[in-house]
Amino acid sequence: MIKLAPSILAADFSRLAEDVLLTENAGAHLLHIDVMDGHFVPNISFGAAVMKSLCGKTTLPFDVHLMIEKPEKYMSDFVTDSTEFITVHQEVCKDLRETIRRIKSLGVKAGVSVNPETPVAVLDDVLEETDLVLIMSVHPGFGGQKFIPEVLEKVRYLKERKKRDGLRFQIEIDGGLDLTNARAIAGAGADILVIGSAIFEPGKTAQNTKAFLELFSA
Ligand code: DX5
Ligand code: ZN
Repeated sequence: MIKLAPSILAADFSRLAEDVLLTENAGAHLLHIDVMDGHFVPNISFGAAVMKSLCGKTTLPFDVHLMIEKPEKYMSDFVTDSTEFITVHQEVCKDLRETIRRIKSLGVKAGVSVNPETPVAVLDDVLEETDLVLIMSVHPGFGGQKFIPEVLEKVRYLKERKKRDGLRFQIEIDGGLDLTNARAIAGAGADILVIGSAIFEPGKTAQNTKAFLELFSA
């Protein structure tokens, strides 16, 4: 089953819980939490306090995407009863295997992510241990960017590795998804679709969420 993970980066921060509930009630499966530090990416979004303000307001599991340097230093701040995944970027981890182990020791599932320009082969050694691979289909830092189609090769490669080696990690894709490309992306092998600006839209958030779910209900 294809899962939908709306990214709150595109939500109305002045009505965050209401916006989140619109997607939850429309059938979304996860809540994608884009944390940016202004160093790893050229933008600052929000920290753990904002995410924690949603605890108890939504039943959606949190899919935390740490676009930050030194993720080991901050990742425990994002562990709550709602947190399902904490994902770090391979580009800032000196020992990815150790970081994955540490995330798991916090009692949540571990995700690893690569930027569009990073070859997916850098993850080969950790595919057994990781619970999630997040393929960036935009250069991280902002919502509303154009999908980079070349990254679909990475999704196909990961799908092949899962089949060939009986691996169980989920494949997530993030950035520039919309109603025109979502089906092809899922067809390439993505299990979880992160969608921000194509879902959160004043007065249309619920119907946008439903429109994506209908793509996969047939
Ligand atoms: C970008 C973030 C994405 C982004 C997705 O750095 O990781 O999750 O918010 O937003 P859209 O769907 O608008 O590209
Ligand atoms: Zn993200």
